[in-house]
Amino acid sequence: MYKQSTTNRSENLMERRAFLEFLGVMGVGLGALGFNPLAFGTGNQQVFPSLRRSSEDRFRVAKGLHYKVLVRWGDVINHQGETFGINNDFTACLMDRPESLEGTLWVNHESPDQNLLHEGAHLKNRTMAQVVIEQKSVGGSLLKIRRTSPSAPWVVDTKSGTNRRLTGETSIPFEGGPIVGKSEARGTLGNCSGGVTPWGTILTCEENTDEYYGKAVFDPKTGKHHIDFKAATLSWSQFFPAPPEHYGWVVEVDPKTASAKKLVSLGRFAHEGALVTQASDGRIVVYMGDDSNDQCVYKFVSSRKDSLAEGTLWVADLKQGRWLALDVDKNPRLKEVFKVQSNMLTFSREAAAILGGTPLDRPEGIAQNPFNKAIYISLTNNIPKGRPFGSILKIDEKGKDPGAEEFQTSTFLVGGEEVGLACPDNIVFDPRGNLWITTDISGSSLNKPPYAPFGNNGLYVVPAGGPAAGRAHLIAAAPVGAELTGPSFSPDFKTLFLSVQHPGEAGSTGGAPSQIWSSNWPDGGKPKSAVVTVGGPLLESLTLGRPFP
Ligand code: FEO
Ligand code: CA
Ligand code: CA
Repeated sequence: MYKQSTTNRSENLMERRAFLEFLGVMGVGLGALGFNPLAFGTGNQQVFPSLRRSSEDRFRVAKGLHYKVLVRWGDVINHQGETFGINNDFTACLMDRPESLEGTLWVNHESPDQNLLHEGAHLKNRTMAQVVIEQKSVGGSLLKIRRTSPSAPWVVDTKSGTNRRLTGETSIPFEGGPIVGKSEARGTLGNCSGGVTPWGTILTCEENTDEYYGKAVFDPKTGKHHIDFKAATLSWSQFFPAPPEHYGWVVEVDPKTASAKKLVSLGRFAHEGALVTQASDGRIVVYMGDDSNDQCVYKFVSSRKDSLAEGTLWVADLKQGRWLALDVDKNPRLKEVFKVQSNMLTFSREAAAILGGTPLDRPEGIAQNPFNKAIYISLTNNIPKGRPFGSILKIDEKGKDPGAEEFQTSTFLVGGEEVGLACPDNIVFDPRGNLWITTDISGSSLNKPPYAPFGNNGLYVVPAGGPAAGRAHLIAAAPVGAELTGPSFSPDFKTLFLSVQHPGEAGSTGGAPSQIWSSNWPDGGKPKSAVVTVGGPLLESLTLGRPFP
C-alpha cells in the first residue's frame, strides 16, 4: 500500500536505514557484496573525495577522476558533413564485448537553442532556413567510438560509415499507427532521455514537444480535440504543418541500420526516458515518467520477449498500490471516450487521469537497483506545490516482479541541504549498487534562493556502503547554466559517458556584435553542449571495487 511521504527531519535524511533495509533484503553483509568499507575512510570520518560546490564556469571532477571532451555541438561526424547536434542528453554505449576497443555511442539532442543557432538574427520573424537549421540540430547522433587500449581515452572515428544523424527532418514510420491518418512522421524532436532494449536497439524519448507544432488539446467530455497553436513558440508549423500528435512518442532506433520507428504502444506524453527490464516470466517491461508537474508514472509490459510492438500500458495508482491498465477493450469508460486504442494512446495523459493515475512531482529518471530489484524514480520538483528540491520515490513490485500488478512505495531520498542535492533528474545504479544522480536545477534558478547552497548542477553518487553511505557526494560539477544529463557506463564500467547540456542557459544574450555568453565552456567563446568521458581510480573503485588510494 501507499505510504504517505512526510517531510519531518528524520525523513529528510536519505537513508542509511534504506541501505540497511536493502542489504537486509539481500540477506548479505557488505563483505559478501565485495564492497570494501575502508575504501573511503574509517570509522565516522568522512573522507569521500567530494567536490566543494561552486558557481565556476568549469567542468570539475573530484580527486581520483579525470575527464575529456569526446564530442561537442557542431563537430563534423562523417564524410557527408553532418554535424553533432545541440543540447545533447541521453547516451548509450553498445559494445560486442566489454574489453572491445570499439563501440557504438548513441546520443540524444533535445531542443534547439535559438540564440546559439541564429546568433544575431531577429527571432520573431521566422524564416524557413532558420526552422530547417533547428530541425537539423535535434534528434540523435549515432557514432563509432574507438580506444587504443581498455585504459586509453575514447575518440570518435569520423571516418566510420556508422556515423549518422536522425533529425527533425527524418521520416519515421509509426509502429502501431497510423496517427491522425498518417503512417509516418516528419522527424523526431524533444529527445530527452532513453533506454536500451535486450535486442540491442535504442529507445529515444520525445519529451517537451508542444513548442514545435502546437499542442493537441483533448476534451474527454466530447471525445474531440483541437490544436492550440499558441503553444508552438518555435513556429515550425508556419513552414511544415505537421500534426502535434506525431510527437511525444518513444522512438526505437536500430543502431546497425539507423532505421527508426515511433512506438504507439508505449503511449504519448512528455516522455522523459525508458528503463527497460524483464518480468519474472521473461516479458519485457519498460518504466516511463511523464515529466510535467502532477503527471504520472507508467509501465509497458510487452506481450513478447523480442519486441515492444504489442502489450499493455499501465499507469501507477500509488494510493491503491496498483497498476491500472490503459486498455479500451477492458475498460468501458475508456472505450466510451476514446473509441479505439490508438486514439487513447495518443492521449495517454487524459486516459490516465480518467483511470485515477497518481499525479507526481515531475517523474524523470528511473533506475532499477541490481540487488533488491526495486524501481527508483526521480521526482525532480514541484515548484507550484512548494516542493523545490525534489525526491526519489521507490517502488517495490510485488514478488520483486516488474510484471506484477501490485506494488508498495516509499520515499528513498528527499532533496535538500541535509542530503546534499536538489532536483534529482537522471539516475543510474552501477553493478555494486551505488546510485549515480545528475541534478537539474533550471538555468534561471541556479545559485539563487532557494538553490544558492547547491552551486551549479552536478553529478552525485550515493555509495551503497562504507562510512560515506547515506549521503549524496558531488563528484562532477557543471559549468555555468548547464545541467549534466545522460550518464551511462561503458560495458566494462571503466568509462562514464556524460552529457553537459546547455552551458550558458538563461544567460546567453546572443546577438551581434557583442555575443555575450554567460558560459564559455568548453573552448572559450560561444558555449557548446558536449559529451564528456569520465574515468579514473575513483570511478573504478565505485563500479568495480578496485582499491582507491
Ligand atoms: Fe528533458 Fe525532463 O528532462
Ligand atoms: Ca531530464
Ligand atoms: Ca531536465
